[in-house]
Amino acid sequence: MDKGFQLLPEQATRLAVEVDLLYYFLVGLSLFFSLLIFFLIYVFAVRYRRRSEDEAPMQIPGLLKLELAWTVIPFILVVIVFWWGASLYFKAYSAPPKDAMEIYVVGKQWMWYVQHPSGQREINQLHVPVGQAVKLTMATEDVIHSFYIPAFRIKKDVVPGRYTHLWFEATKTGVYHLFCAEYCGTKHSEMIGSVVVMEPAEFEKWLSGSESGETLASAGEKKFNQLGCGTCHARVPGARGPALVGLFGSSVKLADGRTVVADEAYLRESILNPGAKLVAGYNPLMPTFQGQINEAGLLQIMAYLKTLK
Ligand code: CUA
Repeated sequence: MDKGFQLLPEQATRLAVEVDLLYYFLVGLSLFFSLLIFFLIYVFAVRYRRRSEDEAPMQIPGLLKLELAWTVIPFILVVIVFWWGASLYFKAYSAPPKDAMEIYVVGKQWMWYVQHPSGQREINQLHVPVGQAVKLTMATEDVIHSFYIPAFRIKKDVVPGRYTHLWFEATKTGVYHLFCAEYCGTKHSEMIGSVVVMEPAEFEKWLSGSESGETLASAGEKKFNQLGCGTCHARVPGARGPALVGLFGSSVKLADGRTVVADEAYLRESILNPGAKLVAGYNPLMPTFQGQINEAGLLQIMAYLKTLK
């Protein structure tokens, strides 16, 4: 990670290269106009200096062409900067590719807790394969944190009460800094870690090497049973709670007539605040599970629900 003096962090994604290109363009543009202004101040000061005591300056009426030029040229430049910046932003924070590998991240004062679908857990470290899109689903147990990997040029806040997502595709193996980029208390500056980008084969070896014997989904199933969810969400007709098989990603008709997609946010809300979006045809019997399950556990249940097809 320590490579001596560097103007910018390493470029470990394709996005990083594009972000830097825009950055250099902005610096170049500013430098060009700064130097042009310095130069013109100097030239005008010399050229139009007062040459004698009784010299009166010549009155100059407006010059339309000049006015137009210094209005239109900056306008075009600003539009280019806006268009370039906006399209890069949308690209960086667009939806991840369909085949992206999912990893779950929970921020907590003051560490990053990472869960892989195959069951591996790590703290302040994130192992990923090179050349593979990775989608992060992130939550926080307490305050706002911000997940920041400078070498990838991506950063996203992790906000209480909701999931945020981030995706990237590393193009270079190596070890990169991971920071919390949102002041989150006394030890904010210690909420750091590393991202380890490995060759796919090596990554597979790492995955199987630190096997805990329990996948995220099976950990979720255990929680599901501990909390007794299956009592009402039974797999029989006429059960007290709606069926959960095939629920993830499907459309749900609500009692108030709305239709919502059963995504992670919906499922999370329905576990913690079951009355918020009552499913059509069911009574508001479900108790809240607020305080009985933490964000890491919710993500495990989420992984389990996704397997019910
Ligand atoms: Cu977490 Cu700063």
